[in-house]
Amino acid sequence: MTGTHQKVLVVDFGGQYTQLIVRRVREQGVYSEMVPWTTAFERISAERPTAVILSGGPRSTLEPGAPDLDFSCLDGIPVLGICYGQQLMAKKLGGSVENASHKEYGLRNLTSKSGIVGVMDHDQVWMSHGDQVTSVPEGFTVTSSTDSCPVAAMENAAQRRFGVQFHPEVTHTTSGKDLLKAFLDEAGLVGDWTTENFVEEEIAKIRAMVGAEEKVLCAVSGGVDSSVMAALLIRAIGDRAVCVFVDHGLLRYREAEQVIETFGGHFHANLKAYYEHDRFFGALAGKKDPEVKRKTIGEQFVRVFEDHANELQGCDWLAQGTLYPDVIESGSPTAAKIKTHHNVGGLPDWMRMKLIEPLRWLFKDEVRAVGRLLGLPDEMVDREPFPGPGLGVRILGEVTPERVRMVQEADWIFRSELRKRDLHKGIWQSYAALLDVKSVGVMGDERTYEQPIVLRAVESEDAMTARAVHIPFDVLELVASRIVNEVDGVNRVFYDLTSKPPATIELE
Ligand code: XMP
Repeated sequence: MTGTHQKVLVVDFGGQYTQLIVRRVREQGVYSEMVPWTTAFERISAERPTAVILSGGPRSTLEPGAPDLDFSCLDGIPVLGICYGQQLMAKKLGGSVENASHKEYGLRNLTSKSGIVGVMDHDQVWMSHGDQVTSVPEGFTVTSSTDSCPVAAMENAAQRRFGVQFHPEVTHTTSGKDLLKAFLDEAGLVGDWTTENFVEEEIAKIRAMVGAEEKVLCAVSGGVDSSVMAALLIRAIGDRAVCVFVDHGLLRYREAEQVIETFGGHFHANLKAYYEHDRFFGALAGKKDPEVKRKTIGEQFVRVFEDHANELQGCDWLAQGTLYPDVIESGSPTAAKIKTHHNVGGLPDWMRMKLIEPLRWLFKDEVRAVGRLLGLPDEMVDREPFPGPGLGVRILGEVTPERVRMVQEADWIFRSELRKRDLHKGIWQSYAALLDVKSVGVMGDERTYEQPIVLRAVESEDAMTARAVHIPFDVLELVASRIVNEVDGVNRVFYDLTSKPPATIELE
């Protein structure tokens, strides 16, 4: 990201926790990036980071062709090897590694502690390995063991080489944070990376990158990433950040107003808010198929931009809310920061602008911290993920203004009752959806024949898998009662208990 900070490069050997190592280091106020083992030698040689961490990985150092690193690039740099990283360090420096008689997986207690492992207050550690170090290289001492792992940690303090067989980055290792801090201290990392200086430096970079006469087109949706990105651009270049908000009528209750109040009112942004309910509802009329609805909504977005081309054409840059996990996933953390935007199908030619990605070095929680610092309201900064097509994928069957109203009202009741009781914390997504059927009920003396609302609340780490949240039954009962009493057209409420897989998080 920047040459002015101390930096820890984390070499990824394919471990499932490597991103977590980067995050744990950043939590100590130290800037860190991940680098695949295949390009680590070049990057370490070129960047000379303050310290290097070698990650775990699924392979065995004993296998032919196993992930490797030429240690000559590490001369003079403090190194911590974790799991596979420790085994590789042992092998490279003259120790030995063997396949253990049985795989060790789960919680273990350290039976001894000295060296940097000595700072750990608790002994419980998370192990996940087949191979293990059986003899340490010359100059190293064994600083910790468990009943079944003779070299749970090793070090050569004089050369600032440290290794642990367990995973300090996972929360099951109760004192993992202390160990990482001890390593960072040994490596002379002072913790010079904060949200405040990220904001300051990013603003300076945006100003240097965007010419004095140039403008940046910045689409805001009300979501966390686009809101933080817009707030940062406004702080950097004022009204040359052209913020565009398309109110398609498919947002939740009061969300559109909040975007307009925040950006137009509070930030005095150069905000172009396009009220496009008729266009979207018109295009969606009569359409019931989920994929057709999604495509229709996408197309209408492009049309809005085409129709307002006159106003927007002067923009030289397009801001995109790429985050660090996307950068890592694309396999190219060093990819150029600026590239021409040719990869979004269907955009008009004039929208092929230079791309600017001011959040590309941040994890989601760091984006939220930046948003708070820039003065965005909590409701925006803490917003749950919300699909681009909005309530369009939460209304089964035809999307009409009347059906949107029903979902908005039910959704507001559900989520505000959760919030009142602090139950929203730890929930990944919670929402109300409308089914495309009718059922019979009775209200007062009247028979009703109306539509059912489905409530869904899931916990998840990354949206790939999800589980229904255990919401207290009395809260569900209260929410159901409020919805049928307060939302016209609804006479039944269901709670969706299905996990993902086999279901998905959204109903469509
Ligand atoms: P599913 O329903 O596939 O959703 O389990 C996984 C995550 O993706 C979000 N989602 C979308 N986001 N456009 C988006 O921007 C979409 O069309 C879309 N569909 C689903 C969903 O909210 C969940 O977080």
